[in-house]
Amino acid sequence: MKIIETIAELKSLRPKLAEPVGFVPTMGYLHQGHLALVRQARAENPSVVVSIFVNPTQFGPHEDFKQYPHDPQRDLALLEKEKVDIVFMPPADEMYPPKFNSWVEVGKVAERLEGAARPGHFRGVTTVVAKLFNIVQPDRAYFGQKDAQQLIVIRKMVADLDMSLEVVAVPTVREPDGLAMSSRNTYLNPEERKAALVLYQALTLAQKLWSQGEKDAKVIRQQMTDLIQKQPLAEIDYISIADAETLDELDRVKPPALVSMAVRIGKTRLIDNVVLNSENKDY
Ligand code: PAJ
Repeated sequence: MKIIETIAELKSLRPKLAEPVGFVPTMGYLHQGHLALVRQARAENPSVVVSIFVNPTQFGPHEDFKQYPHDPQRDLALLEKEKVDIVFMPPADEMYPPKFNSWVEVGKVAERLEGAARPGHFRGVTTVVAKLFNIVQPDRAYFGQKDAQQLIVIRKMVADLDMSLEVVAVPTVREPDGLAMSSRNTYLNPEERKAALVLYQALTLAQKLWSQGEKDAKVIRQQMTDLIQKQPLAEIDYISIADAETLDELDRVKPPALVSMAVRIGKTRLIDNVVLNSENKDY
């Protein structure tokens, strides 16, 4: 496994990689969710590149950029075990030199939900992912369904800007009790960790109501709200039931519909989602 820190070095190695090249962009502090992406990339491509870069431009001024957890030695040991070929770990000024001044911005689907709650977030994500795609030139890039809107925004960027790669979605990996794995789960104290289960419970309730024939999005949203409000440590940021491609909010649930939410548990903001489709699968 090669560890590379400069763009020039990665670009000079790229022509020597057996194709197709699978790519997994991450911000590190890896867990089983990230590793599911890496394993799928490993199974489907002769070459696998993983990036670890805590991207400053996707964090708002009052967000957790400075405290974002990191443990590069542990991450590298995990990636070595998965037989990754290249880990790209650039320093911040390699990706954003002082005079950096170009941005990639996706329209409507990036303006809603997380985009509305975190202004500038997706501009930072799409800019860094476009740069990483240009540097790595992957044939396939792997993204988690856990960040469903991010996946939709990346697909839109790839389609609109004619990028020559396939975006592959990987189902959400959960803890045994249902909590979606996330690097931010480490912020939760034991009491909050228990309370955080309410997100999954609300999503399971939505799936149950839908499979029982409930089509009224307002009814589903209200029952989810009632359930979450019973948990004193939880504060709802939003609950959305939207078209899974356009993110237009729905009155009547028409599959595939994305049920997504952001909920604060104490000071930690968690997101999770399920897709309602005819088979009621996760994605
Ligand atoms: P990060 O939060 O590190 O996540 C990297 C990838 O892992 C994303 O595609 C995310 O959806 C996926 N992932 C995280 N938790 C998961 C889970 N429980 N199950 C399945 N997949 C999961 O997302 C980012 O980094 C950044 O925005 C990035 C795309 C790297 C751009 O900076």
